[in-house]
Amino acid sequence: MKKGEKVILALETSCDETSAAVVSNGSKILANVVSSQIRIHQRYGGVVPEIASRKHMENINYVVKEALEQAQCGPEDLDAVAVTYGPGLVGALLVGLSFAKAAAYALNIPLIGVNHLAAHIYSGFLVEKEVGFPIVSLVVSGGHTNIIHMPRHGHFEVLGQTRDDAAGEVLDKIARAMGLKYPGGPEIEKLAQKGDPERFEFPRAWLGNSYDFSFSGLKSSVLNFLHNAEQRGEEISPRDAAAGFQEAIFEVLIHKTTGAAVEKRVDTVMLVGGVAANKRLRSNLKEKLMRRGIRLIVPPIELCTDNAAMVGCAAHYQYLEGRFSDLTLNAIPNLGFGG
Ligand code: KG4
Ligand code: ZN
Repeated sequence: MKKGEKVILALETSCDETSAAVVSNGSKILANVVSSQIRIHQRYGGVVPEIASRKHMENINYVVKEALEQAQCGPEDLDAVAVTYGPGLVGALLVGLSFAKAAAYALNIPLIGVNHLAAHIYSGFLVEKEVGFPIVSLVVSGGHTNIIHMPRHGHFEVLGQTRDDAAGEVLDKIARAMGLKYPGGPEIEKLAQKGDPERFEFPRAWLGNSYDFSFSGLKSSVLNFLHNAEQRGEEISPRDAAAGFQEAIFEVLIHKTTGAAVEKRVDTVMLVGGVAANKRLRSNLKEKLMRRGIRLIVPPIELCTDNAAMVGCAAHYQYLEGRFSDLTLNAIPNLGFGG
């Protein structure tokens, strides 16, 4: 380790990925080990919280050891331990939290509790360190759909959020109804790439001038569409259905994010969270923003889905501001942007 470098060990166990990363100065990823439980949860069609906690318990020691080895870094090289403390599954969060607290105590270094949603936004700062504020972020994951205005580091103004299901959640539910495997987003994307998005028209909930989202009406409409086709014995093209359904979500996400970016007069938008892995969402949003002279930052796919490197990046900026946690830090499953 070079002198003056701030090296953070970061842990992420909020859902079904056990991840440990070593991040230097908030931008250099020395290691980012992700052990995914997706295959285990696939047979149940979604994440089973009890199984997730147990698997985190089995994995965490190995994942941390592997991250330190890859980073060629010993415990004595660490300046802080960071961990996601919410939002997420409580039992899953507690595994990372307990490990992080024990490590911070044993090594006598600061503990930094990180908000998972903020961490997703900071995945953009891993790609582009010099970002001029203010920025607007679209956070789209399995649990969240938010448009966030960020005037400076660590400050988040929620401009819009989903009033019911998250975008990724709807993709997962529809995929399940179509007989596709979990997680549904990538499966729908694969089908949609060969489909015609205009063949079937699904409803968009615009909600007036609000930056909020609502996807439950769309979900019901697609489920009815699939059910009715089945009842009538009609063969529908899964590719066209997937393309039309995906488009109905993305069109609203893109329209509202662009509107927020223009209203807030930002130069930069960040697209983050698991759904940001989708190529059509990335390219269509980029194109729409480019026409307004706004640039889009999207992390590479492995940094869009849950990982600890983004936690290490967010923690770096908290470290610089002296925002540390004490050993009473607890898991907050429904943590919002206020925390
Ligand atoms: O951020 P993430 O890994 O976990 C949460 O914090 O929720 O996001 C997972 C979500 C799932 O709903 C998954 O279906 C969706 O991201 N997803 C995608 C793609 N890859 C993952 N959705 C659309 N296209 C993708 N390529
Ligand atoms: Zn996430």
